[in-house]
Amino acid sequence: MLMKNLLSIEELTGEQIKELLALGHKLKAERGHHTTQSLAGQTWALIFSKSSTRTRVSFEVGVSELGGRPMFLSTHDTQLGRGEPVKDTARVLGRMVHGAIIRTYAQSDVVDFAAYSGIPTINALTDQEHPCQILADLLTLEELYGVGAWKDMKIAFMGDTDNNMGRSWMWAAKRLGFTLALGGPQQALPNADVLAQIDYSGIICTTDPAEAVRDATVINTDTWISMGQESEKGTKEKAFFPYQVNRELLTHAAAGHSVFHCLPAYRGYEITDEVLEMHAGAIFTEAENRLHAQKAVLHTLAQS
Ligand code: CP
Ligand code: NVA
Repeated sequence: MLMKNLLSIEELTGEQIKELLALGHKLKAERGHHTTQSLAGQTWALIFSKSSTRTRVSFEVGVSELGGRPMFLSTHDTQLGRGEPVKDTARVLGRMVHGAIIRTYAQSDVVDFAAYSGIPTINALTDQEHPCQILADLLTLEELYGVGAWKDMKIAFMGDTDNNMGRSWMWAAKRLGFTLALGGPQQALPNADVLAQIDYSGIICTTDPAEAVRDATVINTDTWISMGQESEKGTKEKAFFPYQVNRELLTHAAAGHSVFHCLPAYRGYEITDEVLEMHAGAIFTEAENRLHAQKAVLHTLAQS
C-alpha cells in the first residue's frame, strides 16, 4: 500500500484503514520475534508542543523496535518555541531525519510540515484529529469482536463529541461505513458545516444521552477539556454531566458492550471510577495497541 503521510483519518480510504489494521494485528502477534526492521538506519523526530504519555512512549518504542532511532524534540526546547516558522523547521529537518511525528495545535502545521519537509509525517494529535488513536481503537474493537465487526455495529461517542477524537471517529465511520452516535450538549455536537463536510448519513447527533447509547456495542468517551482548552473548564463542565459514562447510562447499551477511553481519564467527570475499572481490560488494551497500530503506520510509510 502506498502512503506518504498519516495526517488524518479523513484522507485515508477504507481500504487503507483495513490494511493498516491487518498489519497491526500481525505485528502485535509477532512482537518480540519479528524480523521487520523497516526503519533500520533511520532517525525519526518526535516534535511535541503538547504533553503526552502514551503517544510519546509508543512511538519511541515503535521506532526502536523497527530498527530506527527516535529523537524527541519538545517545541519549547527548539527554535519553534521562539517563533521559527514551521516551514523553515520542516526544510531543515527534512534534510536530516527520515520521518516526523508531530503533536501540535493547528492541523495546518502538520500539513505544512509534510509539504515543506518532503519526509513522511505523522499527526500524533492536533486540535482537528487524532488518527493514531482511532487506528488503535479499531484494532482493539477487532480484537474484542472480530475483524470487520464494526460494520454492523453502533458505536457511541459521549461528551465533547466535536473534539479531535470525535472528528477522527466521524471520518472513520464514513470511511468504513458504520453507525456513529454522538451524544453531548448542543454546543459540543458538530455544527452543520462540519456535518456537511463529512456528509455521511450514518452519523447520529443527539442531546439525549440514553438515545446515543441505546444498543451501542462500543461506548467511547474522552476528556471534556482537551489540551489547549483549559480556560473553558469552569463554563463547560456543568452542561456535560448528563453525558458522563456511568453505570446507569450503560443500562441502555447493547449486551456485551465495551467502554473505550483514549486516556488520560478524569474520573468523576466524563467517566466514573467504577466504569473505568470495570472496563479497564479494553481501555488499557487500547493504550497498548497504540504501539502495534503505529508500528503498522511506520512500516507502511517507510515502504512507500
Ligand atoms: N491517548 C493519548 O494520546 O495519550 P497521550 O496524551 O498520553 O499521548
Ligand atoms: N481530546 C484530548 C485527547 C487526549 C489524548 C485532547 O486533545 O487533549
